[in-house]
Amino acid sequence: MESWSQVTIVVLLGLTVRWAVSLHPYSGAGKPPMFGDYEAQRHWQEITLNLPVKQWYFNSSDNNLQYWGLDYPPLTAYHSLLCAYVAEFINPDWVALHTSRGHESQAHKLFMRATVLVADLLIYVPAVLLYCSSLKEISPKRKIASALCILLYPGLILIDYGHFQYNSVSLGFALWGVLGVSCDWDLLGSLAFCLALNYKQMELYHSLPFFCFLLGKCFKKGLKGKGVELFVKLACTVVASFLLCWLPFFTEREHALQVLRRLFPVDRGLFEVWLKVDPYCSIPAPPLYFSELM
Ligand SMILES: *[C@@H]1O[C@H](CO)[C@@H](O)[C@H](O)[C@H]1NC(C)=O
Repeated sequence: MESWSQVTIVVLLGLTVRWAVSLHPYSGAGKPPMFGDYEAQRHWQEITLNLPVKQWYFNSSDNNLQYWGLDYPPLTAYHSLLCAYVAEFINPDWVALHTSRGHESQAHKLFMRATVLVADLLIYVPAVLLYCSSLKEISPKRKIASALCILLYPGLILIDYGHFQYNSVSLGFALWGVLGVSCDWDLLGSLAFCLALNYKQMELYHSLPFFCFLLGKCFKKGLKGKGVELFVKLACTVVASFLLCWLPFFTEREHALQVLRRLFPVDRGLFEVWLKVDPYCSIPAPPLYFSELM
């Protein structure tokens, strides 16, 4: 993109709208006993900070899974732990085991909203800017316009900053993945997409285009030699990134299985699994992201 002042204005506009939306109450504010996703995320901070890893996904008297039990993949849990360290540093009451349940205050809301903004700024916003500047055969003006449209996409802003979630993290990683594979950095692209999958199982939605695109790349390089080499490298990258994300859960077979059961609650019926993968019955991403892959 040509003009840095225009890029700055677009980013500032995106941030202003995000922060303005976040001034509103989150879903479930002041509604005991369950509150909403805000409390779910706060509770995950409480659990990951106070309990050893091997108890995170298991039901116990310290971790009643019926109360917002952790049911997202490991990267979400690590992110919760990271936020929990910051929360504990600011005010230990926010993440104290049991006693912090349903904690609500203006300062805590500010902290929680800030964690969403920071993650968005670090992961999603730079990916969007790079993605738009890498678009081929369009004028600088249209690149700026595309960045503005993507950064002001209401679905994502309302869910992350109004309702309260961290979709910009998983979506951001997926977009880094798109950037990677479209610049022929296939291994880095796959790594980024594996991070997205390991943050939120909803990214399974985007796995088919990724898989087909990369498989196509392998075929184009030939069914022998280079094509097979790329396929093996991609497979190793995917396996290695999953192993890395799941490492603490591989100590026992039962442990990894329990995490899987939490992510895909087949025993609660297919509808529950569907809700885990697609909680809003829609992909909160403009299909524009994938135009590069087509
Ligand atoms: C989980 O543990 C809590 C407290 O020990 C218990 O009340 C609850 O019934 C358990 N839930 C399941 C699904 O086993």
